[in-house]
Amino acid sequence: MAVKLEIAGVSKHYPGHDGISVHALDGVSFGIEDGEFVSLLGPSGCGKSTLLHILAGFEAATAGRVVLDGRPISGPGADRGMVFQDYALFPWKTLIENVTFGLELRGMTRDERERIARDYIALVGLTGFENRFPHQLSGGMRQRCALARSVANSPEVLLMDEPLAAIDALTRNQLQEEILKVCAARDGVPRKTVVYVTHSIDEAVFLSDRIVVMTPRPGRILQVLEVPFGYPRTDATRLDSRFSPLVAEIWQTLKVHMVQAIDSGRN
Ligand SMILES: Nc1ncnc2c1ncn2[C@@H]1O[C@H](COP(=O)(O)OP(=O)(O)O)[C@@H](O)[C@H]1O
Ligand SMILES: [Mg+2]
Repeated sequence: MAVKLEIAGVSKHYPGHDGISVHALDGVSFGIEDGEFVSLLGPSGCGKSTLLHILAGFEAATAGRVVLDGRPISGPGADRGMVFQDYALFPWKTLIENVTFGLELRGMTRDERERIARDYIALVGLTGFENRFPHQLSGGMRQRCALARSVANSPEVLLMDEPLAAIDALTRNQLQEEILKVCAARDGVPRKTVVYVTHSIDEAVFLSDRIVVMTPRPGRILQVLEVPFGYPRTDATRLDSRFSPLVAEIWQTLKVHMVQAIDSGRN
């Protein structure tokens, strides 16, 4: 498969208030294939959001480059869709208006954008709630709406920053399946390329083709792992005899690193 997104030698320093800069990323390199689901996994402060913001074009790398479909990323663009933890929905727009907003900007007719919006609203299980406002929806429903909105705009790459971190544990499992459903190939639309940020090992294993394990101070890649499960993923995936050992192995790797970091005074 072709490399869709290339991250090559990316480092990021943020200027500090006191003249001491924060070294958020250090020499991060990996490629993401077309249609691949890759998670960035690591403890808080390891530069996951920073890397996602560089991919989104919100931040520039201090060194290195990020290339999408052969073109260097130099700013935000409609070829990348974002889903954040806090939904970022327009509170004054209804669910369907939130989903059609981006399509309207692209100059689609009302009929066309409503057809696409209803299709994605159905896909995330929100049919019947089209005219509700965000405050009339649960957190899980708001995140479904944000997901429908991003995917309806058919971005080349979907960038998600801990979209389920604020969702209760029971709803979270269900939403993980919804995310995969929305990103799967269907009706001639190819499978989405996804970069997904999480600090949950279980979540990364359940969702991903590959997991990029990161460690902080400075943010670096510790390990890149292939997940052995095919798609679709279901409750049977969580019960697979390889699931828990893989979660345990990743946790051990991270733990060893974190203990070493404490010993060397870096934590
Ligand atoms: N805008 C910013 N200005 C200064 N420092 C920042 C900024 N954003 C993030 N950082 C610092 O960069 C490091 C990585 O942060 P971040 O990318 O948010 O990590 P993560 O998402 O993995 O928790 C942290 O030490 C954080 O404090
Ligand atoms: Mg973050």
